[in-house]
Amino acid sequence: MKHEWPIVLSHGDVVLRPLSRRDGRQWQQLRRGNVEWLREWEATLPLPDPTIPADYRAMIRSQTKDARAGRAIALGMEVRGVLVGQITLGGLSWGSLRSGYVGYWISRRSAGQGVTPLAVAMLCDYAFDHMQLHRVEINVRPENQSSLRVVAKLGFRFEGTRRGYLHINGDWRDHLSYAMLVAERPSGGLVRHLKDMSVSDRRAE
Ligand SMILES: CC(C)(COP(=O)(O)OP(=O)(O)OC[C@H]1O[C@@H](n2cnc3c(N)ncnc32)[C@H](O)[C@@H]1OP(=O)(O)O)[C@@H](O)C(=O)NCCC(=O)NCCS
Repeated sequence: MKHEWPIVLSHGDVVLRPLSRRDGRQWQQLRRGNVEWLREWEATLPLPDPTIPADYRAMIRSQTKDARAGRAIALGMEVRGVLVGQITLGGLSWGSLRSGYVGYWISRRSAGQGVTPLAVAMLCDYAFDHMQLHRVEINVRPENQSSLRVVAKLGFRFEGTRRGYLHINGDWRDHLSYAMLVAERPSGGLVRHLKDMSVSDRRAE
């Protein structure tokens, strides 16, 4: 299914937008500076796979192709004009499924400021409202406490454990699976839900 591309989503200081060839240098610096930070959570290949892009330009071409074909939407996360990470709505299935999963990472320097939960909320609101997805899933390693906080803040529902679900950091790793149906989304949307939650947290302090 073909759909709208490029997509640019913004809320306050946070902008989600497709990466372009011009972002190459900034992207490479960001990735190089965060190798250790990301290693434990990065997808790896159990076998050589020629379909995986070999360099930055090939990655951009592949992301554009996947987005236009309605297979996956990969967006750079930007805060006040600086690239800080990436978020992907992947595994898009249409027909009787209308679902996808969200994956994300942010640089060590920008972690802990609530950027990722906001980015996930923005992308999920877009997916439910504009792509008419029925279900969005997020899979997290049980050891990844920071990512478990992201799904908790957004109110995703725990569905169960997927044994050996993804090849991460050199081995097949179990994942905890969380999902949200469009009917389960808080009224007013996820971005608003996050804002309301942070106001009530501040009141409780
Ligand atoms: C998981 C991740 C995306 C969270 O993004 P984020 O933008 O930092 O999200 P938040 O600001 O909401 O922080 C989430 C939790 O991270 C923890 N955290 C905060 N600052 C942190 C820091 N500097 N370093 C590590 N963890 C931190 C806290 O437990 C926080 O929860 P809290 O707000 O209740 O205290 C980010 O830690 C990351 O990119 N990690 C490496 C890659 C990864 O794990 N990707 C996800 C795979 S499923």
